[in-house]
Amino acid sequence: MSEIKQLETQILAAIKASDDLADLESIRVSALGKKGSVSALMKGLGQLPPQERKSFGQQVNGVKQALNQALGDKKTALADIALAARLASESADVTLSVRTGPMAEGRIHPISQVMDEINEIFADMGFDIAEGPDIEDDFHNFTALNIPAEHPARQEQDTFYFPKRADGSSLVLRTHTSPVQIRTMLSRKPPIRIIAPGRVYRIDSDQTHTPMFHQVEGLVIDEETHMGHLKWVLEEFLKAFFEVDNVQMRFRANHFPFTEPSMEVDVRYKRVGNEVRIGEGDEWMEILGCGMVHPNVLKAVGYDPDQLQGFAFGVGIDRLAMLKYGAPDLREFFAGDMRWLKHYGFGVLDVPTLAGGLGS
Ligand code: DAH
Repeated sequence: MSEIKQLETQILAAIKASDDLADLESIRVSALGKKGSVSALMKGLGQLPPQERKSFGQQVNGVKQALNQALGDKKTALADIALAARLASESADVTLSVRTGPMAEGRIHPISQVMDEINEIFADMGFDIAEGPDIEDDFHNFTALNIPAEHPARQEQDTFYFPKRADGSSLVLRTHTSPVQIRTMLSRKPPIRIIAPGRVYRIDSDQTHTPMFHQVEGLVIDEETHMGHLKWVLEEFLKAFFEVDNVQMRFRANHFPFTEPSMEVDVRYKRVGNEVRIGEGDEWMEILGCGMVHPNVLKAVGYDPDQLQGFAFGVGIDRLAMLKYGAPDLREFFAGDMRWLKHYGFGVLDVPTLAGGLGS
């Protein structure tokens, strides 16, 4: 075998045996590079007798071509192998089931949902949201609301008292959200238009009572607000909340120390199986208390009852939630049972909006 053929065979064998791109490159350089073995053959061309030069040159070029071809093929083959290996190592198994994340697992408690619904409805009517502390003093929870020390309403409310303080007074767990009326009037100037949703506490427990429950208070104070406004606001609220076009309300005279006149409001309803339909039928259900703010309450916060007037109302939120979402036992609301919450709770993204029809 000629020297050239031998060199070619040797290099082709090396190319065939090579298994990575860097190694292949060094084979190319050592054969076809400037100082490579095949290039070196060409340098000897000058010393050959002229009649041999042509065929020698052709032979060497033939070897170069063959090597280039072999190098190119091998390079493609190695790149394919590398790609296949990378695809295999980076592949995602799309058959794996998706793990449910907190967004799908978590539940919004129906009370929170109903509070958000109420806030949305009143915010749309221009009300601010006000808050007060759960632990109240006697002044805000009772005295300023025209419930003096010896008043029977203090006993009626089954109050949780804290131990007596040095001055003989006791703090209480607020028995209603009405003290937020006092706090708001003391800290703001009229006109006032607020609702105050929150927790309240009374010593009571049965199917429709829990020691902690929720109310929302409403208060509007300015120079001319009257009972017509009260009626309109409540009607708009109940229609939006129960998602019906009509509600029929009945105002019954009542007594609350902090309003004069005071009323309880009933709504017309019908029971169909377990469902309660508001706005239909011929039964009446008591739903809230309200009235015109008592002059004594206005005086207690330094307002002049001859200048300022307005209305207040108080609604039990839990009762509204039970009615709207059909949960029969109030105690279940606060039992912390995950199965209950899964059934009655709302998705994290079910944010109530008026445009979206609220309790979506
Ligand atoms: N605070 C009352 C209660 O807890 C509810 C109430 C009635 C609030 C009439 C009011 C109102 O603002 O005007 O029973």
